[in-house]
Parts: sequence; structure tokens; C-alpha cells
Amino acid sequence: MNKMLEVKDLNISFHTFAGEVKAIRGVNFDLYEGETLAIVGESGSGKSVTTKTIMRLLPPSNSKIKSGEILFNGKDIAKASEKEMQKIRGKDISMIFQDPMTSLNPTMTIGKQIMEPLLKHQNLGKEEAKKRAINLLKLVGIPKPETRIKQYPHQFSGGMRQRVVIAIALACNPKILIADEPTTALDVTIQGQILDLMKELQKKVDTSIIFITHDLGVVANVADRVAVMYGGKIVEVGTVDEIFYNPKHPYTWGLISSMPSLDATEEELYAIPGTPPDLLNPPKGDAFAPRNPYALKIDYEKEPPMFKVSDTHYAATWLLHPDAPKVEPPEAVKKRMHKFNAEKKNATPNKEAK
Ligand SMILES: Nc1ncnc2c1ncn2[C@@H]1O[C@H](COP(=O)(O)OP(=O)(O)O)[C@@H](O)[C@H]1O
Ligand SMILES: [Mg+2]
Repeated sequence: MNKMLEVKDLNISFHTFAGEVKAIRGVNFDLYEGETLAIVGESGSGKSVTTKTIMRLLPPSNSKIKSGEILFNGKDIAKASEKEMQKIRGKDISMIFQDPMTSLNPTMTIGKQIMEPLLKHQNLGKEEAKKRAINLLKLVGIPKPETRIKQYPHQFSGGMRQRVVIAIALACNPKILIADEPTTALDVTIQGQILDLMKELQKKVDTSIIFITHDLGVVANVADRVAVMYGGKIVEVGTVDEIFYNPKHPYTWGLISSMPSLDATEEELYAIPGTPPDLLNPPKGDAFAPRNPYALKIDYEKEPPMFKVSDTHYAATWLLHPDAPKVEPPEAVKKRMHKFNAEKKNATPNKEAK
């Protein structure tokens, strides 16, 4: 599969009153053509900073890309000028943010706002742009688009506004769409509808998607692959099946254990104890060690490398070292793994029967 984006050893810091915040500490990942990659992790783990860097949207006054490359179309975006980025943003790479209200201009009609990137990047005439705007509203499931394009954001509900934001992001058929917690600010019932829309769009457009969420629960249905972030690093990456049913990093175990299970209603929700690392003074070894019930001595001394589990699955935990003691994941995780293995066994005879 073709790579749309290659992020290589990215390091980003913020210069603050308190000192240097090392927000992103050696992030590597690829984005393949047509896939949806989910980036998950607790608040503050570096998801937004990573993706805002791809759009080069970090405040230049106090942020710095200390090292690394972001290769797109053979070009290193990490070193692109603002002028070059203006040609890429909204055309080749576009982004949807959490709060649809702040992404829209309250004084401009929806139609004008969808037409704007089309007029800017695509050399379309006004009539053509208007037709395309109507089609885009249809694509994102807004009824009566011919009437709706004349209206203003306040005439739309929260969910409908987010649909408009998605339409604007897709206007120029971008190669990459970044959705940064696109449902977090919406009502729970609307969240499901927007997720369904995202899934539907995956089939209709050939855009690669980076889907950011703090909620592992929404990932299973949307993503092809998952990257788990902690303390400014990717600590585990794999296909959805690998991450859900054969997770290797104790932090991923914690995230899975904190997902509400389907069969238990009265069960108390598990939360990973402790707090994320202080990125002003990142710890020496594995940043998760103080919260990790399975931590080894070496976790406090040396950072674990990414150990290979399969061609598509890697995890940065010393537990994968051949000399490490064998530990069992927590019950909640094991239950899912059993389900996976059972499904796998059942799948084989079916295949043979065909
Ligand atoms: N403008 C900023 N100034 C200083 N620190 C920042 C700034 N933006 C983000 N950070 C820090 O970078 C880290 C990662 O933040 P972020 O990527 O927003 O997390 P996430 O999106 O995973 O919740 C956090 O520790 C946050 O405090
Ligand atoms: Mg964020």
C-alpha cells in the first residue's frame, strides 16, 4: 500500500514560563492510502499537537519543531514555509476540530463558507462552486441543501453544524482528513450519527483519515489501525484487531479496562490510577512506569524500544523483551482476547467451506 504521510522521529517543544514542555518526544508513524488511522490516548498525551503540526497550525511564538520529518508527496512539511502551507491546507490536507461553532464564521452563510475553499484552490466559477456546495451538503446528509446553503450557522443544530464543517473539509477532495475529536463536543445521541457519517464517507471518498479520540470505545467501528499515545510518544501501534484483542502495552490494557463493557451495567468504571508524566521534566525510563502495576526495574532506568509483535503490530514495553517475566493482562482484557481467539477459530472452517 502507498504511504500518504510519513512522520519520522518528530520532537516538539513549547517554551513556557515554567520552562520547556517536551510535548512530542520521538513520534513515528505512517498513514497509508485510503486507511483510517485512529490516534488514542488520555488528554495531554500529544494527539492534537502531533496533528496540528501536520497542518503547521501550532503557535509560532512559543512552539518549535525540534527535529523530525513529515513527508507528504515527497516533501517535508515540517520545513515548509507558511506560503507553501497555505496551498496545502484545506486542499491536500484538511482538519475538523472538536467544536463546530468555532470552526464556522457566524456572519457568513453556509454556502459561502463551503464555496470559499473551492474558489480559492480549485479555480471553479461561482455557479459551479455553488453546485458543488449543494452536492457536498447532500453527501454529509443535510436535507434540502438548496435552501440550507443560504442560511447562517446559528440556524443549524450542533450535529448539523459539524456536518457542514465536514463538508467544508472535504470540499477539495483532500488526500488527508484529520478529525480531532469530532464528536466530543456533541450530545451523545448526535455523536453516534456523526460517527456513522464518518464511516459512510470512508466508503464514498478515497481520503486517508486520521481520527483522534480519547475514547477507545469509538475506535473499533471507525479505524483500520490504531496508534496509542502516552506522554508524547506512540507506545503501541497495530491493526484494530491487534490492539483490541492482542494488546501488549500495559497502558493499552488500562485503556481497554476503562471501556464500559457491554454485558455489565452496574459495574463500576475502571480508571487508570495516577496521573500522566510531567513533560517539563519527562522521566528517564518508560514514562508509564509509575502507573504500571507490571513495571520492571529497567522501566525506571531505560526507555523501552518498539518491540515487534507482527509486521503491523509494535509496542514499546520491556515486557516484550525475551528475558522479561511472563505476565497476564488484567481480566477485562483477557475476556476480550478470548472472544477474539474464539472468533478466529470459528472463522477458519467457514473460509474452507467457501
Ligand atoms: N500552546 C501550548 N503551550 C504549552 N504547552 C502546550 C501547548 N499546547 C499543548 N501543550 C502541551 O502539550 C501536551 C500535549 O497536548 P495535546 O496534544 O493538546 O494533548 P491531547 O490532544 O492528546 O489531549 C500537553 O502536555 C499540553 O499541556
Ligand atoms: Mg486534543
